[in-house]
Amino acid sequence: MDEIGCSREEVLSLLAGYRARDVPHERIFSSMCTVPHKIALEVHKYFASTNLGDPGLYPGTAEIERRLISDLGCLLHGKDIGGYATSGGTESNLQAVRIAKKLHPTDKPNIVVPKSAHFSFDKTSDILGVEMRMAPYKEGSFTVDTGKMAELVDKNTIAVACVAGTTEYGVIDDVKSVSSIALENDIWCHVDAAFGGLVIPFMKNPVPFDFEIDGVSSITLDPHKMGMSTIPCGTFLIREPEHLKLLSVDSPYLTMKTSFTLTGTRPGADVAGAYAVLKYLGREGFRDIVSGCLENTRRLVSGMEAFGYKKVLNPVLNLASFYAADIPEGWKVSRTRAGHMRFVMMPHVTRDVVETFLDEVSRLH
Ligand SMILES: Cc1ncc(COP(=O)(O)O)c(C=O)c1O
Repeated sequence: MDEIGCSREEVLSLLAGYRARDVPHERIFSSMCTVPHKIALEVHKYFASTNLGDPGLYPGTAEIERRLISDLGCLLHGKDIGGYATSGGTESNLQAVRIAKKLHPTDKPNIVVPKSAHFSFDKTSDILGVEMRMAPYKEGSFTVDTGKMAELVDKNTIAVACVAGTTEYGVIDDVKSVSSIALENDIWCHVDAAFGGLVIPFMKNPVPFDFEIDGVSSITLDPHKMGMSTIPCGTFLIREPEHLKLLSVDSPYLTMKTSFTLTGTRPGADVAGAYAVLKYLGREGFRDIVSGCLENTRRLVSGMEAFGYKKVLNPVLNLASFYAADIPEGWKVSRTRAGHMRFVMMPHVTRDVVETFLDEVSRLH
């Protein structure tokens, strides 16, 4: 750190130099985050100094968090759903397993997750000392084989999890069957809808994946993905809010005397931004955005197929995958663990972006 500070212009110019090295969103197909909605950005600045870790000092912002949780809970067919705004899907998944562990004390706890589970479950398993058992895919699909999942459950299983909108292929597990396993064994059922939670409800004839299904205990849904909030904003939604108390520790010097969240200081700015996007767009606005992303996904697939690229599966959500092949330089496309090319068709991947990309692909052939 320098002894004497710089001028505002110098600081801004220094930082702009670093920012210019970042990949522009128009070239990013590999991310589940996107450019925040303009209203989220506006609101973010206004709430920048709020700290939800000490909600008694910010009752207004804390009310926004309650409304965000309540609106998302309703969207996911819940009634009086509890929860809170997390730092993202990783924290929400970890908190679900923490609760399950408290509810089912056993010497050698295990959780059963699909092969598609996000790597946040590896972290969860490591941090909580819970064995992670992976259930394979159903033959010829990328969704979990629920029969095999049931076989992995034993008396030390504290939870089963499934994914609604998998990270790699954007498919939706059979949540109903997974929840039946949980009900039969009287254990926790967590649905990781970090990505799909703000896509599936806005599709035509959405498959049931949420609190509509009896056995579902908790859901991860990230506004900083398809919710177009500023980063970081996840949510952890829980059917029985009372269960959050299992995570409570004393927080004597704060305005609330107990704390169940994982982090202490928590930003209110992203939460206010996430709520602003929900209010601004409404269900109708989200339906438009989701339908645009799905349309662009179909366009990408048909365009790529025309050049001989083979799709791995028919996209379910706004995520497309192809067997590995060359793509033009300068585009950020990620690979799945099986080596397939993965395109996440976020709102920043507009029709123009898709056409520019396809045009560059055409020049490879
Ligand atoms: C399905 C799913 N769950 C959890 C996560 C982790 O979310 P975060 O990176 O916000 O912690 C991701 C991230 O892509 C995800 O796709």
